[in-house]
Amino acid sequence: MPLATSDAVALDRLRAVCQPLLDPAGFIPGQQADERYCTDWSRARGEPLAVLRPSNTDEVSRLLTVLHALRQPVVLQGGMTGLVGACVPQTGEVVLSLERLRGIEEIDPVSGTATVQAGVCLQTLQQAVEAQGLFFPVDIGSRGSCQIGGLIATNAGGNRVLRYGMTRQSVLGLEVVLADGTVVSRMGKALKDNAGYDLKQVFIGSEGTLGVITRAILALQPLPTSRQSALVAVQGFDAVTDLLAQCRRQLGPRLSSFEVMWRDFFDLSTGLLKKGRPGLNLAGTHVVLVEAMGLDAGQDDALFAEALGAFQADHPGCEVILAQSLADAQDLWAIREAAGEAANAVAPWAGFDVSLPIADMASWVAQVHSQLREMGLTQTQTYGHLGDGNLHLVVGLGSEATRKGAVHELVHRTVGDLGGSISGEHGIGLAKKAHLHYCRSAAEINMMKLMKTALDPHGILNRGRIFDLL
Ligand code: LAC
Ligand code: ZN
Repeated sequence: MPLATSDAVALDRLRAVCQPLLDPAGFIPGQQADERYCTDWSRARGEPLAVLRPSNTDEVSRLLTVLHALRQPVVLQGGMTGLVGACVPQTGEVVLSLERLRGIEEIDPVSGTATVQAGVCLQTLQQAVEAQGLFFPVDIGSRGSCQIGGLIATNAGGNRVLRYGMTRQSVLGLEVVLADGTVVSRMGKALKDNAGYDLKQVFIGSEGTLGVITRAILALQPLPTSRQSALVAVQGFDAVTDLLAQCRRQLGPRLSSFEVMWRDFFDLSTGLLKKGRPGLNLAGTHVVLVEAMGLDAGQDDALFAEALGAFQADHPGCEVILAQSLADAQDLWAIREAAGEAANAVAPWAGFDVSLPIADMASWVAQVHSQLREMGLTQTQTYGHLGDGNLHLVVGLGSEATRKGAVHELVHRTVGDLGGSISGEHGIGLAKKAHLHYCRSAAEINMMKLMKTALDPHGILNRGRIFDLL
């Protein structure tokens, strides 16, 4: 399709100022842009005016200097695995992709740090540090595609938060380019640094609205040498919280994952996997994936078996499948990590990522499921990172796609009523911004807007994500 005249003019103007700053692979007109720049894992879609692919911080800075002068809206992109549409181009936006900033600049075993560029893929980093006997603990299902810059910009959570914290906890230093091209660099390796405001925290989790993350220094951990994984099928939510308490008590800091699958998710997910794998036939209302990691295989294996044994003694009806090998563990995780396929099996869907007190979870789930049934919506998938108080809910909408707004309203309002959050880990982006007020006060949202206006006065970076300024 030929470009509208106004877009053609805008593209010519962009080409004139951006192309001289980049190598030939750095500028792609929107009409020639690959589909990967148009859509993320939320399935939202949009086409950019152009795609800019800088290779280093200096190029990012020079590009933003001219884009700022032009007041050109920019959408920032990493691995495009987000679930809230934040990186999907909106009308008239130019993509700034960090995918060519791919260097692991240093792994420093003495400080226990990795210095990386924003476009490094999570799995590449995990493997590189493991080869040196170190461990980057942040782990999420999209590890093979997501990029470090995006992990930091969204303060990604994932499967090991209860032990190692969210991404924020692993960031020691950060380099950011502001909307006007200013480079703000604090690439420190020390855990302690109280010289005034800790500016990096402002950018971590800002969803690309306050600056462009170009490099980071990440804290590494000792590589665990033992790993124990099990599926535990239980009857009733009280048994789930008993199991969590038991594991915390007996495994202490070794406990690294506590993922809970409600029956509705477990049935759909296991139905998608090849028969004959372990764990597929478990009964129970909830199936928990418990994992521990440690540094002493003999002792850790025994402690893990003891903790689960003690739980079984108190809960005779429960079933435990203990992974005997790494392959077994991967099979157990495959059930939990089929979440993307399970959601797509019921598309179109409404997806949620809420946080709420663990004590309120069972009744909240029951209430929401029941209200969804009253709306004629019976396809639900409920699962999440229970140890972190973070639940995911996917609702298949079938022929009721127009009810998506009503489903969002129901879920977010009820979470807000309990003092929970409408986003535990995925962020607000475009998909959730209408309901930010359910978990943030007017004073908080106003402060966010003040920060946005101060750092990005023309509102060019990820405009309209999280909130609208007007
Ligand atoms: C998960 C993603 C959806 O936990 O956050 O599978
Ligand atoms: Zn999750």
